[in-house]
Amino acid sequence: MVPAAGRGERLGPGAPKALRELGGVPLLVHAVRALARSRAVGLVVVAAPADGVAEVVALLDGHGLDGKKDVRVVAGGATRQESVRLGLAAIPEDVEIVLVHDAARPLVPVEVVDAVAAAVRAGAPAVVPAVPLADTVKRVEPNPGRPEPVLDTPERATLRAVQTPQGFDRATLVEVHAKALAEEAAGGADAVPVTDDAGLVERYGGTVVVVPGHEEAFKVTRPLDLVLAEAVLARRRAADDY
Ligand code: CTP
Ligand code: MG
Repeated sequence: MVPAAGRGERLGPGAPKALRELGGVPLLVHAVRALARSRAVGLVVVAAPADGVAEVVALLDGHGLDGKKDVRVVAGGATRQESVRLGLAAIPEDVEIVLVHDAARPLVPVEVVDAVAAAVRAGAPAVVPAVPLADTVKRVEPNPGRPEPVLDTPERATLRAVQTPQGFDRATLVEVHAKALAEEAAGGADAVPVTDDAGLVERYGGTVVVVPGHEEAFKVTRPLDLVLAEAVLARRRAADDY
């Protein structure tokens, strides 16, 4: 499934991020195509902005996605977590493996999608693609706008930057989302917010494994990311008729 209901605040003013264009094609269409290119994927469920479902349906139709794959669109929610939960609810009961892929990662290579799906099929309940970090990372006492005290420096070789698609045994993913919802409803825990689905699995004691990601699976978050994505796409289009 593809959570695509975010505004894209960090990208700056304009259309919702998933509808912004890369090489003349909306990010969302790139992301759905990237998933659909994998033989492991039979159905793509998109969580669209709640006020943009009809627009997203028209957009996906207009870009003639590979007719062999079923694409469904549902209304997303106020948070990424809620959008994923709503998307999950639209997946037929007999589907056993679910990949969750950000609309904001338009250029993920099919090899990454295949590797994640294969690792779930081989028995891992939760799989994330990730890459080593280039920068050294420090933990700080957050104090925006002021010098922030450093707490410590995790050893870089043990860190990974996590991408999507993240892959799950469906029952595991449904269960952790239900638990998170119940906890919220109970006025629950000022738990640290979880920014990815695998993080929910970790929170409730499940096992998550990492497989190699790809530098081109980066997330379009800030304006500079869009510049890089245009360059990567131009290179691909020059190399073949991508
Ligand atoms: N997402 C979603 N529903 C939300 C918020 C985010 O489906 N309520 C999706 C986004 O559309 C995106 C993915 O989650 O594909 C990753 O989120 P992020 O990169 O943070 O996108 P935005 O939330 O749109 O961007 P920002 O945080 O800058 O506003
Ligand atoms: Mg966001």
